Amino acid sequence: MRRKLVAGNWKMHGSLAENEALLSGILAGMADVKAGVAVCVPFPYLAQAQAKLTGSAIAWGAQNMSQQAKGAFTGEVSASMLKDFSCTYVLVGHSERRAIYGESDELVAEKFAAAQAAGLTPILCVGETLSEREGGVTEAVVARQLDAVIAKCGVASLAKAVVAYEPVWAIGTGVTASPEQAQAVHAFIRTKVRGLDAGVADGLIIQYGGSMKANNAVELLGQPDIDGGLIGGAALNAEEFLAICRAG
Ligand code: PGA
Repeated sequence: MRRKLVAGNWKMHGSLAENEALLSGILAGMADVKAGVAVCVPFPYLAQAQAKLTGSAIAWGAQNMSQQAKGAFTGEVSASMLKDFSCTYVLVGHSERRAIYGESDELVAEKFAAAQAAGLTPILCVGETLSEREGGVTEAVVARQLDAVIAKCGVASLAKAVVAYEPVWAIGTGVTASPEQAQAVHAFIRTKVRGLDAGVADGLIIQYGGSMKANNAVELLGQPDIDGGLIGGAALNAEEFLAICRAG
């Protein structure tokens, strides 16, 4: 049985004061949450998350990292720096990184490898754009994004990773994939991995992301291959985020 994992992706939101209130609110409501819970916060707030969440049931992580271990890479942050703040998770290949910052499948695979080498659990984000869906290439796109990581790191690497299926057209738009649409792609991902390693496939946590809210979480998380959520907008409100966590 896979334990569900609900992770907040705060993106570039928050302040010391707002985060304090948000984390306090989430912590106060954790007693009846059975799912695993994590928050991926902006780099400057990692110390705050660590101070606030150490010893709690909530894990924390970052939203991006460098593929490089160290060196003259102005503005970049390494995996070992994230480890210094006891991060458990790091998002790699979020669609905003791919689309706005031009991250290629190969670069994402390098970041995935560097995260694991440092002992972080990468949350590998995959998903198709609207035109790709309309063009009937959703599975091909998701397969290509997964294959880049499998080619570099091997299928066994997925035993220490999380995959987040996030259809780009559903992110921040209020348009959620239907439970059937999401389930179909989740099943495709698991079947693809099962073709390489059944044990890894059975244990793999595959989150759904893209306008998941309190009012659609139960249905989405009730699908057999949806093992949690990667939550953007709804992760910025403690009650809304907790309601999703309780659905898991
Ligand atoms: P959203 O974002 O929940 O606001 O759609 C999800 C994500 O980008 O991870």
